Amino acid sequence: MKFFEAILASMLAFSVAVAAPVPDAIPPTPQCGGKYWQGPTTCTRDHYVCFKFNDNYSECIHETRVPQWSVGKPQ
Ligand SMILES: *[C@@H]1O[C@H](CO)[C@@H](O)[C@H](O)[C@H]1NC(C)=O
Repeated sequence: MKFFEAILASMLAFSVAVAAPVPDAIPPTPQCGGKYWQGPTTCTRDHYVCFKFNDNYSECIHETRVPQWSVGKPQ
């Protein structure tokens, strides 16, 4: 039983460590572009693309979430 508890405790510790916020890795907003945007214009997360919603606003979204109406349109 003690061994099992130790495994459980280390798993819990690991998940807490993974869930802890990493301030600079993921920006507070997913915005990646826009008229007055001063922040990063690239998406660092895998499979995320910078999608331009309009001239004022671009946002990092998952590549599978790119709206169909935009497919084939230059961005
Ligand atoms: C972008 O912002 C400007 C004002 O800065 C506004 O006049 C314009 O309509 C906006 N364009 C879009 C697509 O929201």
